[in-house]
Amino acid sequence: MSGPVRIVLCGATGRTGNAVAHALAARDASADADPGGARLAALVAPSVATTPTRPLPDGVPAFATLRDALDADPLLTVLVDLTHAEPALEHLQLAVAHELHAVVGATGFQPGQLESFGERFAAVHRGLLHVPNFSIGAVLAMRLAATMAAHFPDAEIVETHHDGKRDSPSGTAVHTAGLIAAARRAAGLEPSSAAARAGDDPARGELVEGVPVHALRLPGATAHQEVVFGAPGEVVTIRHDAIDRSCYAAGVALAASRISEFSGLEVGLEHVL
Ligand SMILES: NC(=O)c1ccc[n+]([C@@H]2O[C@H](COP(=O)([O-])OP(=O)(O)OC[C@H]3O[C@@H](n4cnc5c(N)ncnc54)[C@H](OP(=O)(O)O)[C@@H]3O)[C@@H](O)[C@H]2O)c1
Repeated sequence: MSGPVRIVLCGATGRTGNAVAHALAARDASADADPGGARLAALVAPSVATTPTRPLPDGVPAFATLRDALDADPLLTVLVDLTHAEPALEHLQLAVAHELHAVVGATGFQPGQLESFGERFAAVHRGLLHVPNFSIGAVLAMRLAATMAAHFPDAEIVETHHDGKRDSPSGTAVHTAGLIAAARRAAGLEPSSAAARAGDDPARGELVEGVPVHALRLPGATAHQEVVFGAPGEVVTIRHDAIDRSCYAAGVALAASRISEFSGLEVGLEHVL
């Protein structure tokens, strides 16, 4: 991408997208904003056509659809999607047709859905980065979990989210389980037979790549994850708590500013850290 990075944010009225929109707009307006850095250029949400579900930041053009935003501003360069899996797939169709890069934060995709888009983005030399968690703290906690799994193959994940979350297990838990499984394989380690039995008993969680995952949905929660490792005589817990959704904004800005270095699909903020 040669010119400035101009972000169109879909899902700008959502719990997550709205917090990110306000944080990015405030960052762009601040005296120490990088003049050549990624800028929030357009906001999209269906309720913009009537009354936005949540108030939007002043001074950033807002549209009811991504198509409207692209028609109004042909200089948009990066789609950031914080809607849900189904609308995100529609947005990806438009993004690849307009040769935008895409950073997808929505979760809940079926296996293979993003992979097929990855090939289409690669064909037009554009990046498609799926980031199940934009929190830099959460990503570093996942990295620690992978380091632990190379020595402690017995691990279980407990993820807790607000009661409005649609998908379970969370995208972060699925991604963490994948990292643990890869670290185990690389180290040539197998978990104890207790993990393998988890899939037969609902109370023992859902097995994701051989890792039992327990999903809690509670009012009052935001996004929390514990990865618990056990070995003879010791238990180690890695815990991350997203207290406020503004914690996602730095990761969104980082991913948007680095996405032009990619062609096709990559998964995880760790690719830009
Ligand atoms: N990657 C991360 O770090 C991260 C962190 C938290 C959540 N998430 C994920 O982000 C997604 C959104 O979560 P949330 O809790 O913010 O959801 P939410 O509060 O339900 O917000 C959804 C947003 O998408 C818009 N939307 C809904 N249906 C749409 C459609 N058909 N077309 C276009 N836009 C549509 C909504 O617009 P209206 O308000 O106008 O209806 C709203 O702006 C989920 O997949 C969640 O798992 C990711």
